[in-house]
Amino acid sequence: MAVNLAGKSLISINDLTQEEIWQIFELSSSLKFKLMTGEEHHLLRGKTLGMIFSKPSTRTRVSFEVGIYQLGGIGMYFGPGDLQLKRSESIPDTAKVLSRYLNGIMIRTFDHQDVVELAKYASIPVINGLTDLLHPCQVLADLFTILEKKKTLKGLKFAYVGDGNNMAHSLLHGCSKTGVNISIASPEGYKPLKQIVDNAMENAKSSGSKIEIIDDPVKAVKDADIVYTDVWASMGQESESDKRKKIFKSYQVNSNLVKHAKEDYIFMHCLPAHRGDEVTDEVADSPNSVIFDEAENRLHVQKAIMALLM
Ligand code: CP
Ligand code: NVA
Repeated sequence: MAVNLAGKSLISINDLTQEEIWQIFELSSSLKFKLMTGEEHHLLRGKTLGMIFSKPSTRTRVSFEVGIYQLGGIGMYFGPGDLQLKRSESIPDTAKVLSRYLNGIMIRTFDHQDVVELAKYASIPVINGLTDLLHPCQVLADLFTILEKKKTLKGLKFAYVGDGNNMAHSLLHGCSKTGVNISIASPEGYKPLKQIVDNAMENAKSSGSKIEIIDDPVKAVKDADIVYTDVWASMGQESESDKRKKIFKSYQVNSNLVKHAKEDYIFMHCLPAHRGDEVTDEVADSPNSVIFDEAENRLHVQKAIMALLM
């Protein structure tokens, strides 16, 4: 079905329809092929993407900047402290001013509501490049990677082991929109937010996904097609790092744990990984690991997102 994403913002996967998600995957696949074969694909010739980063980044920064360049446009980076936002210029004023110069804004920041507000006052598309609540571009690239590896999404078992953080939230949205069964194992006090689990349960009514939020990592990983983890302390939580290491100790994805998954399971991680904490080298570097394909797909999927929105 043809859908029109032009002019829209991408703040949460939960705002997308199933058709829109599949349209993103189709274009991602075609752009990936064109890049491989050297076919010109300047879908955003002369357009400018502003990229606002209040937190560090390797993958998001590089993949968006290279992506807009490959599409024939340019990216403009604003680090923490570069904009007058830092000196209390309001988000609505910033949104209105940037809309007069740019064709799109990608933003990575702390408070999710700041991104919602930026999108509300901007007249150009705003793309969420991670907030404390969500990381939608990562999860769209993750689902695209699963589709490449497993040739389907519906009915697969996805196990997420660890912190109920921004990754767990967007994975709940993404899996429940696309019919993937998701089992999340997190310690008490670190489970995904109820509001997000409710979104997923609602989506599951039409997609058929099974959603499970539990304590036991072994139960989550049992017969899983995909095993996923993320850091125990996210950006902004560095001071809790030692405390979290103790709490999450039994949630490490290691050789013992993945024995419970299907033999042909794939291991995924949004990266950066804290090797030796949430995942061991043995798993991250095993033949089942697809972490670098996953990182590469950020480029192809975000190019599709930019091309459809901008
Ligand atoms: N996965 C991810 O978003 O990585 P960066 O923090 O390096 O952008
Ligand atoms: N949960 C991690 C994801 C990094 C891509 C963080 O927010 O730091």
